[in-house]
Amino acid sequence: MNNRRTWLKQTGLAMVGVGIMPLENFAIPKSENIIEDKNDLTLIRLQSNENPYGPSTLAKNAMSKNLNISNRYNWEMLEELMEKIAVKHNLTAQNILLGAGSSEILNLVALYCSKKTGNLIIAETTFDYWTVTAENAGLKKIAIPLTADKKNDLAAMLKAIETDTKLVYICNPNNPTGTICSNKELLDFINEATKKTTVLVDEAYLDFTNQPSLSNLVKENKNLIIVKTFSKIYALAGSRIGYAMAHPDTIMELSQLQFSPNASISVVSAAGAIASLKDDKFVTDTIALNAAAREYTIEQLQKLNIPCIASHTNFVYFSLENYNKDFFNQLTENNILGTKIYEEQGKWSRITIGTLKEMKQFIKALE
Ligand SMILES: Cc1ncc(COP(=O)(O)O)c(C=O)c1O
Repeated sequence: MNNRRTWLKQTGLAMVGVGIMPLENFAIPKSENIIEDKNDLTLIRLQSNENPYGPSTLAKNAMSKNLNISNRYNWEMLEELMEKIAVKHNLTAQNILLGAGSSEILNLVALYCSKKTGNLIIAETTFDYWTVTAENAGLKKIAIPLTADKKNDLAAMLKAIETDTKLVYICNPNNPTGTICSNKELLDFINEATKKTTVLVDEAYLDFTNQPSLSNLVKENKNLIIVKTFSKIYALAGSRIGYAMAHPDTIMELSQLQFSPNASISVVSAAGAIASLKDDKFVTDTIALNAAAREYTIEQLQKLNIPCIASHTNFVYFSLENYNKDFFNQLTENNILGTKIYEEQGKWSRITIGTLKEMKQFIKALE
């Protein structure tokens, strides 16, 4: 068994090396629960902030219906998807660039900003796997600590901008902490920061809140890029669809870094995404179910003397400092996939909010 674990870890690290596996799965082996068969359907997956309720019925029907046209390229369907996204955000298709997941877009932005040498500014701790691309392309990373209440420290980030800063990344709400900056706070920040550099706002989890997207700002501001994904609220993580919203000139520059603009989306994924955009009920149901399971989880964690940060997302950040069992061992023994320790000081970890039933199993595993 140990040999198999070692082999799995080594294989995993090799796959991370060639970019096939998400780094997150293998980041800190010592404090992470390792479960061997990831295809095991009984496994409770609370690791990657996926949506347990989907894909929506409309999306599934559209995807299966379009399977049989997968033998053809279908640029028209991609154009339709871009049009629909543009309408949703009151923009035009020239403001939109599609990627195979927002990860592709994040990588493109990293490359775009690395065309000249300099640095990038990012919170410590945030969703930063994609910054490897920027660092490999020559940007130096400047990490700005979160505020005491685990928010992006916008004032400190603004102050940290130097003449050769090429990018500031704001994940809002922030992963892994689940905290949010208000649009007023962000607006003030963006107005100042984009006078000097490019600002990338990642709205992967914004749809779990009632705060609107900042999409309207990209009409005028060439130095603002907003990235969104179908992986979370629309439950299409495995379909790999994300997109950038930016000024048409910026979209043009970004698209030149793709092998063929917008072309990494399959027909089946595009059909699923188009149908998802029509399924408002799925979205409101997901928000309500997630909020109920999240409330339960936070309440129960606090009863276990595990402090939590108030969350605006489908995950919760909590401190294991007072928890005296081996957290990851408890998860592994109960067939639950969690993630890792993000901050050693305070032993902060994150759990994805699954269904209420899954969260009850999670809490039971900790008791
Ligand atoms: C903040 C954030 N941005 C982007 C992504 C990438 O998502 P995807 O590539 O599935 O669109 C994730 C995935 O967990 C995320 O948490």
